[in-house]
Amino acid sequence: MSKKILVVAGDGIGPEIVAEAMKVLQALQADGSIDVSIEDALIGGAAYDAAGDPLPAETLEAAKASDAVLLGAVGGPKWEPLHISKRPEKGLLGLRAGLGLFANLRPAILYPQLADASTLKPEVVAGLDIMIVRELTGGIYFGQPRGIETLPSGERKGVNTLVYTESEVDRICRVAFDIAMKRGKKVCSVDKANVLECTEMWREVAVKAVADYPEIELSHMYVDNAAMQLVRAPKQFDVMVTTNMFGDILSDCAAMLTGSIGMLPSASLNADGQGMYEPIHGSAPDIAGRGVANPLATILSVAMMLRYSLDAPAAAERIEKAVSQVLDQGLRTADIMSEGMRQVGTAEMGDAVVAALT
Ligand code: NAD
Ligand code: IPM
Ligand code: MN
Repeated sequence: MSKKILVVAGDGIGPEIVAEAMKVLQALQADGSIDVSIEDALIGGAAYDAAGDPLPAETLEAAKASDAVLLGAVGGPKWEPLHISKRPEKGLLGLRAGLGLFANLRPAILYPQLADASTLKPEVVAGLDIMIVRELTGGIYFGQPRGIETLPSGERKGVNTLVYTESEVDRICRVAFDIAMKRGKKVCSVDKANVLECTEMWREVAVKAVADYPEIELSHMYVDNAAMQLVRAPKQFDVMVTTNMFGDILSDCAAMLTGSIGMLPSASLNADGQGMYEPIHGSAPDIAGRGVANPLATILSVAMMLRYSLDAPAAAERIEKAVSQVLDQGLRTADIMSEGMRQVGTAEMGDAVVAALT
């Protein structure tokens, strides 16, 4: 049965990288590997400019009616002066919340061909394969109270609140445990339980939940140490599970282990298996419009979409193999360029992946 995909390209490099991912989707559609219908909609700054709202109601409705959403990126300096409720980022957060996409999977895998592209020594990152499971609809991103208020003294006070309920922690930990059961069976829960009560509770809930997974080896780490360990000896990690904000920060850090933030895809899933798929990077305003952005994170996000929402694991594998093949051919966008390789632009990289699909 045909599956519905909603494409929301967004801002900055969003449309450039999504165009390459679309080529891959269309090639798989054309050769009969997948049966999809594709629609697009506005989000972020592009939606604000067109409709005065970073998440128009039609976009949310179309997303709810889809099996999967493919997103480029949102945001940029143009919209920074707007009130926070109108900023592009609010559109993305609204889509995540509106679809209930609480489980964000961010796999940091080093393609061996890119060992030289990492800023770390090749032996530190060789064979790297970490899955970061980030809670995505709770925590300090959504906690109340929040806002900026003016005190009687005239001074302003800014407030954000870290909030988790036990059930929110329990369900994200179980997602991490289920994933770990299909991998190395090791989960590191990252918190700040020495200082923050909310994450003290997080740790207790994780310990309770793991009782249902006797084969899982659960460890705990404070987030400051985890950031350091990711750079010191990243291969000690198999699956990491953490809060919304810690996961945001640690996944950018993990991305660099793989050579570039332009390599890291993600899947954001709800309880019904519906998902949104996006690279973990942003709209990269510094390189937008130049045709030099790396489209591989977005293309690999399509592979995650095929695996998690479209029940097409074989097609997903073909995409991942094609990416590996273009790296074997020595093609590199600027962010992963190294000596002796051939530098290509966004479109040439996308075309090469399509050509390598076998
Ligand atoms: P960013 O991820 O956009 O860029 C950080 C750096 O990485 C930049 O130097 C950029 O050129 C580079 N980079 C990112 N993606 C790349 C790619 N595919 N190929 C090559 N280089 C790439 O982060 P930022 O600069 O902090 O944020 C810019 C804007 O993006 C902000 O408005 C921010 O809110 C937004 N943002 C959006 C998302 C999202 O839509 N999911 C994620 C992060 C940031
Ligand atoms: C990400 C981004 C977003 C986040 C922003 C743009 C809302 O940084 O997807 O990693 O913080 O979740
Ligand atoms: Mn981020």
